[in-house]
Amino acid sequence: MSSFLRRQSIRTDIQNDDDIRILVHTFYGKVQDDERLGYIFNEFAEVDWEHHLPNMVDFWSNLLFQSGRYKGRPFRQHLPLPIQKSDFHLWYNLFTETVDCCFAGERAEHAKEMAGKIAASFSLRMDIEKENQPNLISHDL
Ligand code: HEM
Repeated sequence: MSSFLRRQSIRTDIQNDDDIRILVHTFYGKVQDDERLGYIFNEFAEVDWEHHLPNMVDFWSNLLFQSGRYKGRPFRQHLPLPIQKSDFHLWYNLFTETVDCCFAGERAEHAKEMAGKIAASFSLRMDIEKENQPNLISHDL
């Protein structure tokens, strides 16, 4: 068996909260290492990671396990950020890369599908908001 197949066969699905923690922490590690996304999170938004990481674990545990632990409405929080369409692609690519390197299975596929749908919907809604209120996010230009 090639080393690629061996690596594939030992990956398991996202099974519990520990797995979600691994996914979320690995993903936001990559986000912070990325020049563009790292700038938005750390320099622009000055994110408090001690708060954001557990919040994102709750968000994903709610999506994948219906844990009921996240009740927020996240879109609005993204509106003041200088996010462009290409940033959503970057975000999504890093997310799928993280899922694929750690996990394989139905839930892993579902996580990527949800991430893609939400990123696409955020991106579209941001375009609509900007068309309606062009001065509100002028730093995006
Ligand atoms: C370029 C893409 C994105 C950027 C730069 C971004 C950035 C951010 C930032 C800066 C925050 C505020 C964190 C804080 O201050 O605590 C945040 C919150 C959040 N983001 Fe994103 N985000 C992006 C895409 C997404 C996507 C696609 C999702 C969903 C799949 C998502 C889900 C969330 C959630 C759930 C929160 C927490 C909202 C709350 O406090 O309830 N983000 N994001």
